[in-house]
Amino acid sequence: MDQQRDTDKKRSPEKASNNSLTGRREEPTGDTAALPLGQPLVPPLELSSVWCFTSPTEAEAALDGSLSETFVYRRENHPSAQRLERVLAQMHGASDAIVTAQGMSAIAAVALACLAPGDTVWVAEEVYGKTMVLFFDHLAKWGIRSVLFDPYDDQSMQRIVVERPRMVFVETVSNPRLRVVDLQRLRERVHSVGGLLVVDNTFATAHLCRPLDWGADVVVESLSKQVCGHSDAMLGLVATVDPSICQSVRRHVASLGMTSSPIDCYLTERGLQTLEVRVERACRNAAAVADLLSAQAIVRGVDYPGLPSHPQHRWASRLLSGGFGWMVTMHFAMEAGTMDDAFRVLTRYFPFAPSLGDVRTTLSHPASTSHRSLSDAEQAKLGICRQTVRISCGIEATDTLRHQFQQALAAVAATVGRAS
Ligand SMILES: Cc1ncc(COP(=O)(O)O)c(C=O)c1O
Repeated sequence: MDQQRDTDKKRSPEKASNNSLTGRREEPTGDTAALPLGQPLVPPLELSSVWCFTSPTEAEAALDGSLSETFVYRRENHPSAQRLERVLAQMHGASDAIVTAQGMSAIAAVALACLAPGDTVWVAEEVYGKTMVLFFDHLAKWGIRSVLFDPYDDQSMQRIVVERPRMVFVETVSNPRLRVVDLQRLRERVHSVGGLLVVDNTFATAHLCRPLDWGADVVVESLSKQVCGHSDAMLGLVATVDPSICQSVRRHVASLGMTSSPIDCYLTERGLQTLEVRVERACRNAAAVADLLSAQAIVRGVDYPGLPSHPQHRWASRLLSGGFGWMVTMHFAMEAGTMDDAFRVLTRYFPFAPSLGDVRTTLSHPASTSHRSLSDAEQAKLGICRQTVRISCGIEATDTLRHQFQQALAAVAATVGRAS
């Protein structure tokens, strides 16, 4: 794989982040470009799994990729995915983007495309549970060694230079403690030993952060979350400025059957039209909810990068542009055994739906869902306990949402009892 780091010199993250995504694009595309007479305003949903040719020469040329804008078989690519890929590549400042069936297939395709038996990957200790399973169970069988590390610990960061991993995998904003990784420092360390920095940007989206601008080699996202925004499609994204990585990821996606479905692309393309306004409102709501929760006696602690008390607040102000995210994590002060009762009350106000990025505010319980594969001790090390509740803020009117939380917490306090 091409190890050139010339993008490090060319990119200026703080400058570039001002022109990302919808509203900050350099050129009009999609929603702002003028459409010729007779063109439908909404792109059609094309479900065909195969395209036709008039000669074997034509078919061969299409399969070789020398006929542009021609599709052959949906597993290779299809119009809905291609449209989405172009917009997402531009949003991320990538030279190319690949849309995959799910967020997990995006991560798996990158790992398989970039790693070989004998390689070592350093995985941040707080990544999504299934990502852990992928690296520590599945890839281990293929001779790829995964090592957990703490990207917020100086000594751990220093060891990168000594141990020279082939790949380092982190999340921009971690789940569920919402810690914000120092991509600048990490990139310096990883690139100094010729490694690849892969960043899962699901909790930020290109609207808040463009990891490629900070020197990441590859960015992956679960588009099933905020980018789709309505919990009705599942897709993943791989974006990079390295053409050789891109080509290899595409080959893996096609041959391992990780290709997206046109319907999911269609729904996600629609979600993309409102991403900017949804993220802005959801971030504003999250800030209001974090403030409100911080003042509640039954809440022992609140994690939100926008709070001055957050350990990476200053860094988050630099890395994230336009808001501190829509996720808030709270830790109740009540006994662990009361959490089922607390949830019975909370779910009268908000759905307990273990995902994130919906237009509605939803709740999740990391200990029993996303992080259940970790032992109690492992959860405790990450600061997760039975009383930890993760909130994905939606786009409701801020005052309404604040009022709902006030009512919900008062009802929990009344039902579950005094704060301990
Ligand atoms: C941070 C993160 N990355 C990746 C994934 C996997 O995405 P998908 O559910 O689209 O496979 C998730 C799913 O929750 C996630 O939270």
